[in-house]
Amino acid sequence: MTAPDRNIALEMVRATEAAAMCAGRWMGRGDKNGVDGAAVNAMRFMLNNVKMDGVVVIGEGEKDEAPMLFNGEHLGLGVDPKVDIAVDPIDGTRLTAQGRQNAVSVVAFADRGTMFNPQHIFYMDKIATGPLAAHAIDIEASPTENIKAVARALNKSVEDVTVIVLDRPRHDELIKEIRDIHARIRLIPDGDVSGALSTCKPDSGIDLLMGIGGSPEAVITACAIKCVGGNMQCKLWPRNDEERDKCKEKGMDINKILNLNDLVACDNVFFAATGVTDGDWLKGVRYDGTVVHTSSLVMRAKSGTIRYINATHNIQKLDEISSFKYGAESASESSFL
Ligand code: FBP
Repeated sequence: MTAPDRNIALEMVRATEAAAMCAGRWMGRGDKNGVDGAAVNAMRFMLNNVKMDGVVVIGEGEKDEAPMLFNGEHLGLGVDPKVDIAVDPIDGTRLTAQGRQNAVSVVAFADRGTMFNPQHIFYMDKIATGPLAAHAIDIEASPTENIKAVARALNKSVEDVTVIVLDRPRHDELIKEIRDIHARIRLIPDGDVSGALSTCKPDSGIDLLMGIGGSPEAVITACAIKCVGGNMQCKLWPRNDEERDKCKEKGMDINKILNLNDLVACDNVFFAATGVTDGDWLKGVRYDGTVVHTSSLVMRAKSGTIRYINATHNIQKLDEISSFKYGAESASESSFL
């Protein structure tokens, strides 16, 4: 009998909870940087107190110069285990700033050296689906072929298949093709981590994610899908010749299909997410006087355990024992304006 080993995701969730609690204060204020700044500060504070030697491989912020956890930044107390970190303190910063649905705080860990580093490439073409159609997707095939294959795998008609797509002009052709074959579309304003994950949730009504979204989000999503089951394939999507040339210089193959194992090359993967605004998987943060309620998802690929954690946080007590402030005053002014 071996003793159960550590499930570090149970510690990571404290960081996503903290980020969600702080960022959720900014909901609807129209201040993206306020949202991001609050989440980044809380996430950094909590992750820095985890017993690990972590390096941020997938941080965020360069794309829109928002507050960020830097790529290469060391987090944790500097002791084993050595982990790669993929973090998006808020996937759906604009969603939060506008008070819209499906913003989440997410973080994933994997063994050191196993997470794909997209370097200067900010976007990837992505296709993702849940466990039942996992074998059916092929990023090299057309959207029509993929939708038909997923329909067959799910034993339903093409008209019954629902595809989730980021609402962007770059997807006009994709959207037209999906409409032409009469599949259903859910257009989302932001948040393709949530979007991809919803394909893996049996009762979500979403079967497939397609289209171009952020590279950091692709790696984070791959970690989540490794835990929950399902499949994802991606391809680097350079925006211009400059990015393409840099790929050549660095020996990055833009034609390579990036499978789950290319995006995260181990099974020792941990994932935690907390809802910021209400969404398909998770409820958003609720503020109730002295207490704050959060709803989180905690997963581990090796064991396959998926936990939903609903927590009630006593703000007064937290403020007494922690140097970090969770109360409403923490959002009284944007430190990033
Ligand atoms: P952030 O909230 O982290 O900025 O990301 C939101 C998001 O919608 C991602 O979910 C998605 O992958 C990416 O932005 C798409 O990028 P763009 O908005 O530039 O099309």
